[in-house]
Amino acid sequence: MRPTLGEVDDRPVSERSARIGEAGPFRMLFEFARKSGYQQRRLEPGVLDFTFGDPHEMPIPEYVEALRAAAVPGDELWFAYKFSLVEAQEAAAESLRRVVDLPWTGDRIRMTTGGFGAITLAMKSLADPGDEVVYSLPPWFLYEALALEAGLVPVKVRIDPETFDLDLDAIAAAITPRTRLVVVNSPNNPTGRVYPESTLRALADLLEAASARNGRRIYVISDEPYNRIVFEGVTFRSPAEFYAHTVLCYSYGKTLLAPGQRLGYLALPPQLPDADQVIDAVESLQVAAGWLFPNAVMQYAVPRLETLSLDVAHLQAKRDRMTAALREMGYDVATPEGTFYLFPRSPLPDDEAFVARLAEAGVLVMPGRLFETPGYFRICLTATMETIEASLPRFAQVLEQVSG
Ligand SMILES: Cc1ncc(COP(=O)(O)O)c(C=O)c1O
Repeated sequence: MRPTLGEVDDRPVSERSARIGEAGPFRMLFEFARKSGYQQRRLEPGVLDFTFGDPHEMPIPEYVEALRAAAVPGDELWFAYKFSLVEAQEAAAESLRRVVDLPWTGDRIRMTTGGFGAITLAMKSLADPGDEVVYSLPPWFLYEALALEAGLVPVKVRIDPETFDLDLDAIAAAITPRTRLVVVNSPNNPTGRVYPESTLRALADLLEAASARNGRRIYVISDEPYNRIVFEGVTFRSPAEFYAHTVLCYSYGKTLLAPGQRLGYLALPPQLPDADQVIDAVESLQVAAGWLFPNAVMQYAVPRLETLSLDVAHLQAKRDRMTAALREMGYDVATPEGTFYLFPRSPLPDDEAFVARLAEAGVLVMPGRLFETPGYFRICLTATMETIEASLPRFAQVLEQVSG
């Protein structure tokens, strides 16, 4: 509302930032952190923390050594302004060729400040304010905030609750002439589901047909920071293999368990037409949005960082221990195929009430409501095996209390 003559509009923040602040899961996340006293509670002795995908152990020495070596200047321009460093792009492309079977090249990769940076650049370089972006629930809780910040309209669809697979009919029904983007996240946070090839092929067919019908191309943002965290017997396939108009967004924060170091990239598949235009748009945005490039030291470290990973076999052992124990107690939990999350059903219909009961017993997890999927809760397995073992009697005790 405009002030009348003589009055002053004293609202301190822009309508744009107020709108982002109100974004559903984004606001809930802050409330969750504040209301549960999370920051203090997670440090209390005896409290077992399974909330955020943060590290619970000291970083591996090779990681620290890679950063230390990258911080030693090799020339006077070492710490000069940097766009994407060619050494980083080439190392990223070489590694990506091993994960997603396409002939990726460094010139179609741009280094970003983690997955956040890659997703926001993809959204803004491909879509205009007012365009719609379709994604499935439960989502990563920041899609809505990133979409609103880009001026886009979030359109949310359900997944198949039995299989945690994409519901392609729901996606097809959600597409309108304003649809510009579909976000796909596999391996999925929080369900741990890796979407099968058949789903991704059918999605590609659906999007080809919808683009032709609309007379405007629909792009896929493939958000795949967990594409290297896949368990035995499971094959990861990227949507980029089946749909040329895909932008792949990656973060090193998960594979290296160092999310605070803000490193990732955006990669365009070799078969994408007009890639030069997209790359130009991405790079211009990186500058204009506030120099959204990873810092020089992180970029110099990429070739060495690409040789490192968290211990996926140990993570799988933690997954196996936790799922088997929870099931034996009576929890309803699917076996995740990748990522470091479990997404069991809440024994109480009110997942927040159940999460509060667990918190009273000193176990911190996230309610499904944070993922716009009430009736579930998320456990993050970056916690140590010792923490998992210590938590099991408490999970059993709280289940008994709420069932009784
Ligand atoms: C599905 C998904 N996408 C993107 C991100 C962002 O990753 P980063 O914080 O490393 O940028 C996360 C982090 O939790 C995630 O789970």
